Amino acid sequence: MNVLVIGGNGMMGPWVVPVLATRHRLLVTDINDPPPDAAFEYRQLDVADAAAVDSAAAGMDAIVNLSVLRADRDLAFHVNVRGNYNLARAAARHGVRRIVNTGPHNQVIGRYLPWEHRLHPDLPPRSGTGLYGHTKALGHEVLRVFSERYDLYVQSLLFAGLRVPGSWWLRPKTRGRNFPLGQDLDGGYVVAWPDAATAVRAALEVDLATLPSRCESYFVLPDLPHGKYSSEKTERVLGWRATYQLEQFWNRSADL
Ligand SMILES: NC(=O)c1ccc[n+]([C@@H]2O[C@H](COP(=O)([O-])OP(=O)(O)OC[C@H]3O[C@@H](n4cnc5c(N)ncnc54)[C@H](O)[C@@H]3O)[C@@H](O)[C@H]2O)c1
Repeated sequence: MNVLVIGGNGMMGPWVVPVLATRHRLLVTDINDPPPDAAFEYRQLDVADAAAVDSAAAGMDAIVNLSVLRADRDLAFHVNVRGNYNLARAAARHGVRRIVNTGPHNQVIGRYLPWEHRLHPDLPPRSGTGLYGHTKALGHEVLRVFSERYDLYVQSLLFAGLRVPGSWWLRPKTRGRNFPLGQDLDGGYVVAWPDAATAVRAALEVDLATLPSRCESYFVLPDLPHGKYSSEKTERVLGWRATYQLEQFWNRSADL
């Protein structure tokens, strides 16, 4: 497939792009400069720029949206909501039938209560008012409405914490947020970056005829022994299962 990747030069992009590039022709885009060692077609693109998104979507079979803006009140709406509107419009105009969207699991369960368990992605969405989860939830809603109106299939993959396999590192290098040995693990809501990448590939390649509807959301998490969040649907519908399980991240010290 010809695949337009939006926001492909952030943390997740470098894990996703090589996994997709072996099987698809990619146009990777991001608002920032191309990575110095880019071995793929790259275009600087602001997802809030409707004309630029429209032009990039021409001739594509699918769009993978990895873009996000978490902190700034204006830019978060520009990227997470207006960006989705732009790519949905462009997809509809160019007959692109697949959008793989991404976001945090709290865009669905942000306001569910701490003791509620067996939470799944088809619950009535309660993002709460936090800028990140709320704007991502609105962005998903934009895509859902377009999927009702057009022959457009939307898969939204929802992640919690992402980690380098077998460690607590958010990134391969030691910059950014680090988690020292012995610190608790936020209940184990973590998935390894390579597993995130295979989830994107599974959503991209799923047979559209097998999907329950034209707009679906999925939690992308390993098996959690406490059962708080369920990735059962991701395995059942997309055939995806984490290869890195909770045990490989767990390093809580006995005296905590
Ligand atoms: N990293 C995590 O732990 C985590 C957790 C839960 C969900 N997610 C989701 O995974 C996806 C990828 O997140 P990430 O961790 O790679 O984030 P990131 O911030 O590292 O990357 C996002 C990318 O979007 C790009 N971007 C920002 N504004 C843009 C614009 N106007 N136009 C085009 N691109 C723009 C950024 O330049 C960046 O490269 C997001 O949807 C995010 O919500 C990530």
